[in-house]
Amino acid sequence: MDFYEVIRTRRSVRSFKKNPIPEEVLNRVLEAVRVAPSGSNRQPWKFILVMDDAVKQKMISACDNQKFVAEAPLIIVACGRKLLFNRGGYMGEMSVLVDVSIAFTHLILAARAEGLGTCWIGAFNNDKIKKLLEVPNGYEVVAATPLGYPSKDVFTEPRNRKNLNEIVSQDKF
Ligand SMILES: Cc1cc2nc3c(=O)[nH]c(=O)nc-3n(C[C@H](O)[C@H](O)[C@H](O)COP(=O)(O)O)c2cc1C
Repeated sequence: MDFYEVIRTRRSVRSFKKNPIPEEVLNRVLEAVRVAPSGSNRQPWKFILVMDDAVKQKMISACDNQKFVAEAPLIIVACGRKLLFNRGGYMGEMSVLVDVSIAFTHLILAARAEGLGTCWIGAFNNDKIKKLLEVPNGYEVVAATPLGYPSKDVFTEPRNRKNLNEIVSQDKF
């Protein structure tokens, strides 16, 4: 699939089929995550594949009662390690959010290229997920997504986006 078509037709998917994801498909998506860039190539991340039904059900209340997260065969939870040093200065501890978000974007776009649906979940309870998935101290949850085949055709063109002239300027803000 053309790269720009992947980007234009990726939508947040909130309804999934139960169909399992073939191993080779999942591996391609995870490989796209693996090769993502990060500051100083530190790769301060861990991606937990939540497949167990009972654990998936518990993820619902940890994700602000968004029931659709447990509909997909898989939930992926992205964790980032808070770094104790930072070459970039200003970014400080926030650099982990940038690094993990880049890798997570690779995941979401690769999933779209495979015909899989995702929905970036930002409404979650960090402490609940950390306890449920035994995330060690020093790591925080950055994002989660269900991963599965959409139950209907949802890969439409984007809606309600700002115009380029509202978000791009030249030489000054
Ligand atoms: C950081 C972030 C957090 C989000 N959190 C949620 C969420 O908790 N639940 C949800 O249903 N959608 C969530 N979304 C999806 C957005 O609502 C969605 O991307 C946006 O409305 C644009 O729609 P589209 O993804 O279909 O293009 C989140 C998206 C981002 C990038």
